[in-house]
Formats: sequence, C-alpha cells, structure tokens
Amino acid sequence: MTSAHAGAQAGLDDIETAPVEQIRELQLERLQWSVRHAYDHVGHYRDALDSAGVRPDDIRSLDDLALLPFTTKDDLRRNYPFGMFAVPQADVSRVHASSGTTGQPTVVGYTADDLATWSQVMARSIYAAGGRPGDILHNAYGYGLFTGGLGAHAGAERLGCTVVPVSGGMTERQVRLINDFRPRVIMVTPSYMLALVDEMERQGIDPRSTSLEIGIFGAEPWTNEMRREVEERLAIRAVDVYGLSEVIGPGVAQECVETQDGLHVWEDHFYPEIVDPFTDQVLPDGEKGELVLTSLTKQAMPVLRYRTRDLTRLLPGTARTMRRIEKITGRSDDMIILRGVNLFPTQIEELVLESTELSPHFQCVRTRSGRTDALTVRVEHRTGVLIGSALVAGQRLAERVKATIGVTIEVDVVPPESIERSVGKMRRIVDLRDR
Ligand code: DLL
Repeated sequence: MTSAHAGAQAGLDDIETAPVEQIRELQLERLQWSVRHAYDHVGHYRDALDSAGVRPDDIRSLDDLALLPFTTKDDLRRNYPFGMFAVPQADVSRVHASSGTTGQPTVVGYTADDLATWSQVMARSIYAAGGRPGDILHNAYGYGLFTGGLGAHAGAERLGCTVVPVSGGMTERQVRLINDFRPRVIMVTPSYMLALVDEMERQGIDPRSTSLEIGIFGAEPWTNEMRREVEERLAIRAVDVYGLSEVIGPGVAQECVETQDGLHVWEDHFYPEIVDPFTDQVLPDGEKGELVLTSLTKQAMPVLRYRTRDLTRLLPGTARTMRRIEKITGRSDDMIILRGVNLFPTQIEELVLESTELSPHFQCVRTRSGRTDALTVRVEHRTGVLIGSALVAGQRLAERVKATIGVTIEVDVVPPESIERSVGKMRRIVDLRDR
C-alpha cells in the first residue's frame, strides 16, 4: 500500500502522479490477487468463473480482465445479506447497506484494512478537492447505513480536518452551524446544497458571504450548468466526488479543484472499464458507455467487473496520472425513452439552467394515456419572477427540449417551494404511468 499511514496526511500519495506504466504494473499484481481472493473465498465468484471456464491463473495481463463474467446488483441481492463476503463475519468491522428502491437492500462489508483504504482514498479525494489539514469541514451527507456520511467523515479526519458531523436534514440548523462554525469545506449532495442556499436566503444571510470556499458534491448526477449555479450563488469552487457502496462508497473517483475537468479514478484500488450496455463489449477509452469497476485491494467484499449502470467515458489523466471519468450523465435506469428518443434528467437540468427565470428545482413526471407516454417537467420559477415571464420561460424550455433533444414535452411552471426537497439524493423522476 502506498503511504497508508494513520493520522494526518498532508500531501499527495506518490502513486497519484506515478508514471502510467507503474500504475498498470501495480494494478496487474493487485488484480491477480483480487481475482484469486474472490475465487477462493466467495461461492458466487467460484461458480461464475467456473461456468465461464476461467481460472484465476488465466489473468496474465490487464486485458484478461475481459475474460471474467460481470457482476450485477442482482448477484448481490441473491446473496443477501452476507453471501458475497470473502472473510469470516468476525473479521468484518462494519457493514453498510444501500436502500434500493425495490425490496431487498444490498449489504456491503469492510475489514479494518478496508476501512483504512477507504479513509485513505477519501482523504485523497478531499485533498484533491482543495481541502487541507486544519480546515473545518461541514459534512451533510447522511450518516448511517448510507456510505456517504461515515465515508466522508473518516477521510476528513484522516486528512486532519475538523469534522462537523451534521448528517442530512434539519436545514435551518445546518445554516446556523455554517454561520457559527465557519467551515471552509462542505460535503453534501448538490440538490441538498440548493436547499441550504435557499434557506440561507430565507434567513437573510447572503450565501456569497459565508466562510465556505469549497463544495464537494456527489451521490447523484449534476451538470456543469449546476456547477456554475452553485459556484455563482455561493462564491465557492464546486467539485465532483463519485462512488458507490458496492465498490467502497464515496472516494472511488474525485475531481481535482485545479482543473475541474472530470473525476480521477483512484486506479490503484479500483480498475475502471467502459462497456457497451447493450452488447457488453469493452469500449476503448474516450467512448461513452457503462462504467464497470473491479476492486483491486478490497478484502471483505471484493467485486469483479461490477456493472454500475452509470454512463460516462474514460479520459486520460490531467492533474493526476490516473484516468478520469467524465461527469456522469445518469444511470441507465434513469433513461427516459419517449417516443423512441432517449433522454436523461441531466439534459433537462442543462436546459432549465439556461433560463434566468427558472430555478434548478425540477422533476420529470412520466404519465401514460392509452399507449402514449408523456413527460411533464415540473419546474419552480425563481423567487421574485413575475408569473407572466415565468410562463414564457417555461414555453421556451419546451421549445429548447424539442430543438435540442428532439421530443415534445409539457412544462409546468410552479411557484417556489412547490417541489419536495430531498435531504440526500434528489428524486428527479416521478413515474405515474402505472397509476
Ligand atoms: O452515493 C456514495 C457517495 C456518497 C458518493 C457521497 C458520493 C458522495 P450509493 O448510495 O451506493 O453510494 O449510490 C451510488 O449514486 O452508482 C451513481 O448512480 C450515483 N452517484 C454517486 N456519485 C455520483 C456522482 C453513494 N458524483 C450511485 N455523479 C452511483 C453522478 C453519482 N452520480
């Protein structure tokens, strides 16, 4: 492990800027270990590899990863709760679970070493975002079974920050604490950040005048237009953090504040691939498809070729030598197919934010009459905007959607505060088709 020492860690890990060949060498060595470990200790992987006719010894190069079968969320569900664990339960220091919208949650586990790896990649992420030892960090990601709160917390402590473990919710109090404790860094979902900005304004606090300088936003898709919105309203730098419970939690990839050009995957621990979601073929770097991740060092719950369903592409390193993923467009589950046209809520977000009359609080409401699907974008107008101009802006939004995405939608402009606020991940799609 590279500089995996405990306590405050004030600089970059050497591996972050190591030559690409050195990173590839380390990855191969770790991949071979990870595949062997999964095969030897997890029934699911042994069966899956046996059925595919692959042995751990067949992994002789990084390209051989393509020989392995994919792992899906269903595989995790089928092995609920602890069937994917590769170590005895007594060696598992902690579990987390993702709620999942339907039925069975998925459970993930960590050994003490896994928790150390996680805090290391998360400390690295906060550092890349511009956080420094000694900073006060307001952590509004939810604490509990969700990985956001505790994951960010451990990384911030490890970097040497003063953590304010607020968790999500109690918006009024969050604003008071920001005002009183004067944090430099905030970690929160971008949608909840917007709710916090609105609350600041309600309390008569100028959001641009707070102590905040850096926002580390993730756990849900958000666009560069949303980045401009929060940077402008709060006078901060906004950077993207990505992760998922199945792979470790937040801290799989992080955008660097100096370039703000996509998220560097911490490739010494997580190996990224992009596959065509329909044909399952591995795509070359630069092409857009589904992100697939393989853990390289995880002990309690190794994952081999996990299908994230997140759509993005791989780009070469910039501020670090490790590869970047482009800002995530959305999950394949969130793709709306409307009369043959594919559409993501992030595309709507981009267009909503072109308008000065409309606010970033919006939802995509899907309905069906007879055999025809329809989409209504419910969007709040900004405070102080005259209803007449808000309605014109709504009309213009529908026209822009037609012109750029090529599909007819309805736009329903509603007053401020009409759309339910989330304290964590925002629900962008409301599906009323089965009602
Ligand atoms: O959301 C981990 C996390 C917490 C990441 C805090 C960042 C900050 P899950 O609840 O398992 O874990 O959800 C993972 O959320 O597959 C993506 O679809 C989405 N997601 C996470 N980060 C981003 C991001 C956490 N930066 C799922 N951009 C992932 C877009 C994101 N989507």
